Amino acid sequence: MINKEPEKIKTMFNKIAQNYDLLNNIISFFTHYQVKKIAVKSLNIIPNSKVLDLCCGTGDLGRIAKKLTSSCEVTGVDFSKNMTNIAAKKNPNIQYLEQDATNLNFENNSFDYILMGFGLRNIQNRKSALKEVFRVLKKDGVFLHLDFGAKNFLNKIYDNIISVLTRIFFKNKESYLYLLKSKNEFPAPDKLVEEFKDIGFKVKTIKYCCFNLISFQICTKN
Ligand SMILES: C[S@@+](CC[C@H](N)C(=O)[O-])C[C@H]1O[C@@H](n2cnc3c(N)ncnc32)[C@H](O)[C@@H]1O
Repeated sequence: MINKEPEKIKTMFNKIAQNYDLLNNIISFFTHYQVKKIAVKSLNIIPNSKVLDLCCGTGDLGRIAKKLTSSCEVTGVDFSKNMTNIAAKKNPNIQYLEQDATNLNFENNSFDYILMGFGLRNIQNRKSALKEVFRVLKKDGVFLHLDFGAKNFLNKIYDNIISVLTRIFFKNKESYLYLLKSKNEFPAPDKLVEEFKDIGFKVKTIKYCCFNLISFQICTKN
């Protein structure tokens, strides 16, 4: 099992924060923003709702939510200071807080929507993070989870492409090895949703995009 000790993960993301958007564009062939847009758009976020972008990184999901529903109040949370600094520069109308997803500093039932993209996979204690998502989500609130998708043949080919691309463009060998390992150890969407159900979520949809390489799941708390 890969070591996901929180301090190690935080240090790694602090180190790669400056190049994170570029890395994402390269390894997704410039598709990740479109996929994020499709996922957030599918929620039809209600005006004036409260939205949490959890493990926000440089803030894509929250930014998309705010663009689509300008009256919503978005808060971004990440434990990497370098990530939230970049997010805050890119999105001056969003508040960013440094917090650990497994120990959120919000009241119960605080948010109408929680968006989490490519974050849960990096958390050692997944159950604690999911419990926190459930706790701070309002009744009838919606949880959007987005990450890599099915473990199919194409996924294996994609792993090789990632290895080559990251070797060419990035010197940090440790972080691309981590990306591949964490991706392959993370449960496939159909297994992952069982963990969501165990926490108490109702799973509404599992969607696949980019030849099933990416998936997002929509759950509710009711
Ligand atoms: C792969 S990035 C995803 C960023 C963004 N959500 C996106 O879709 O591009 C994962 C982010 O999760 C954050 N993260 C990982 N574990 C965390 C934790 N326990 N608490 C808060 N943030 C965490 C990292 O700092 C990093 O910014």
